[in-house]
Amino acid sequence: MSQKATVRAPSNIALIKYWGARDLERAVPRNPSISMTLERCVSRSTVEVLPDATESEVLWRGVGGELVPAPPAFAERIRRHLDFLRRRFRVAGHFRVATENTFPPAAGIASSASGFAAVTLAVVAALGLELPVEELSELARLSGSGSAARSVLGGYVEWPAGPGRDQCHARQILPPEHWNLRDLVAVVDAGPKAVSSLDGHRRAPTSPHFRARQRQLPARLEEVRRALIERDFDRLATVVEAEAIDLHCIAMTSSPPIFYWQPGTLAVLEAVRALRAEGIPACSTIDAGANVHVLCPATEEAGVASRLEALPAVRSLIRDGVGRGPAVEAGHLI
Ligand code: PMV
Repeated sequence: MSQKATVRAPSNIALIKYWGARDLERAVPRNPSISMTLERCVSRSTVEVLPDATESEVLWRGVGGELVPAPPAFAERIRRHLDFLRRRFRVAGHFRVATENTFPPAAGIASSASGFAAVTLAVVAALGLELPVEELSELARLSGSGSAARSVLGGYVEWPAGPGRDQCHARQILPPEHWNLRDLVAVVDAGPKAVSSLDGHRRAPTSPHFRARQRQLPARLEEVRRALIERDFDRLATVVEAEAIDLHCIAMTSSPPIFYWQPGTLAVLEAVRALRAEGIPACSTIDAGANVHVLCPATEEAGVASRLEALPAVRSLIRDGVGRGPAVEAGHLI
């Protein structure tokens, strides 16, 4: 019987960001982060073990809808991770991998988090292994996409900065049922970002604001944990927005500087501020890209969505929310 498995893994949105690494190669972060796992923004990956192959094959769903060989840079990153997993589990042979996303990749919607989580979990499932979630989180992190460590879990997730370089895995702090927060992703540019988050992490410590943010983080982490536990949206909104602005302030003042924002980004930020001024609970956050994640309680989703959809800058709106985490699927892509 062929060793093959398909896994769906979600993206996640960071409430407290991972920005700057102690060990970039192994994605050991400088600071803990907290995220919300999404439900609809997912990557799906099929992995098949090819015992006699001499190299792994990486396919992805191209713009035409067909599975085609993935672009070289992406295929190379996946192959490096597959080689690591082959060594780790002493796999003879190689893999055939096919992957697809339900959302635009490399546009600040954490496609590397969901993509590497899906590939990692699909390899483990194809090999018939059953591993504890802590180990799955570490394996996903060792892809080099640190945020993938959080995508193996559902609900609200914290990823500490240690204890060690080899033991650094995420854990769920609250299940998805605890609070039905929605994430409306206002897509102002579906194209790939010009500077990868890996380069962003590398440059972050060159910003004069990097250390100042590090000093604020213990208090911010505590605020977010409390806001989540108490379902206190106003408390959450203040910290989440401060975090996103700081990340981009650090990016813009890194050497060389990185500008992820576009005019549409500012238009959405302004609209969210206007909503809040009207007393509507909504707040914004932005990962390494131009697109804005607008968070709100489920009761406000329809109203917030129609306001965002009316903005000329918003090309499309992805209506997502807190999700349950990855799942093995019966159907395969290949
Ligand atoms: O996991 P990476 O290396 O793609 O970095 C993620 C960086 C941010 O998305 C900006 C923040 C985060 O914590 O997800």
